[in-house]
Amino acid sequence: MQRVFSGIQPTGIPHLGNYLGAIRNWVTLQKDHDCLFCLVDMHSLTMPWSPEALREQTLASTACLLASGIDPTRLYNQSAVSAHARLGWIFNCVSRLGWLNRMTQFKDKAGKNRENHSAGLYVYPNLMAADILAFHATRVPVGDDQRQHLELANDIAQKFNHDMGVEFFPLIEPLIPPHAARVMSLRDGSKKMSKSDPSDQSRIILNDTADAITQKIRKARTDAEPLPSEEAGLEGRPEARNLLTIYAAMSGRTLADVLTQFSGQGFGTFKQALADLLVETLAPVADETRRLMDDKAHLMQVLRQGAERARAVSEPIVSEAEKLVGFLR
Ligand code: TYM
Repeated sequence: MQRVFSGIQPTGIPHLGNYLGAIRNWVTLQKDHDCLFCLVDMHSLTMPWSPEALREQTLASTACLLASGIDPTRLYNQSAVSAHARLGWIFNCVSRLGWLNRMTQFKDKAGKNRENHSAGLYVYPNLMAADILAFHATRVPVGDDQRQHLELANDIAQKFNHDMGVEFFPLIEPLIPPHAARVMSLRDGSKKMSKSDPSDQSRIILNDTADAITQKIRKARTDAEPLPSEEAGLEGRPEARNLLTIYAAMSGRTLADVLTQFSGQGFGTFKQALADLLVETLAPVADETRRLMDDKAHLMQVLRQGAERARAVSEPIVSEAEKLVGFLR
């Protein structure tokens, strides 16, 4: 059975992009794969953070993931398992500055003021490679924005194997969904839906109430044209394309099929149908999230048990990597 690893930053409540790009696939994959899902709290320190908010959001994200259907025995938080940090350091020394300089996510996040960002933000992709390879995971379900990081992880694995003269780390395969792999902001079709967008209206989060979901969809930015009958008619209309793609992904239908249904109609009717579809799927997740949030002791217990299992899997692999690089024990 192939091993699957994936992670999510507990920097805020997961949103619709996280759900369609990643979480939904995690729930499917866990049926026939050996899975580990990680709240990557160490990655959350790469941008300015508040300790109190990190604690709260790690628990809230745990509740959200459980409410979405993630098996509690496969979930844990990264910092509780030392293998991540240990292999992360080794990878800092295997990875090349030239490789990191090419990472577009660093450039996007750091912007013009590079000098003032944490060193952690820069070496983040090395830690991400360690997250996966500490478990010898071979399949990694992610959204499209993580593609470049996974290519780097493979470069690191290959260089390690080459330098140590053994085929120790396996190659990893990204699992990127065919639709909605990049859900865009509801306010601006050229920007990715993201936890760090200052506007709450830009994203639907997994504990939004039915009213909040409907409001956000009603206010989502669109244009004045009616909906086209074919995909070519979405050219230059990123907001329309985004909402239709979300509809198709949520209903499990093709974009062409959805366009046929709504062809020639205004956004009013379509938005109501989209809001209803989102509420039908997400409102039960939100209710369950709120219920789980009332029992913090249970959430802590889930994370502790998950970490125990993750330690048992990663310890022999990372110990062997440490032996290969020449560390004495
Ligand atoms: P993060 O926390 O930004 O996002 C978690 C997952 O959600 C996907 N995603 C999206 N998919 C579609 N549309 C969007 N707008 C959207 N926004 C986010 C992401 O692609 C991701 O799959 N670096 C990772 C976390 C990580 C990780 C790992 C992932 C750390 N170590 C090892 C896989 C394997 C991140 O910041 O994801």
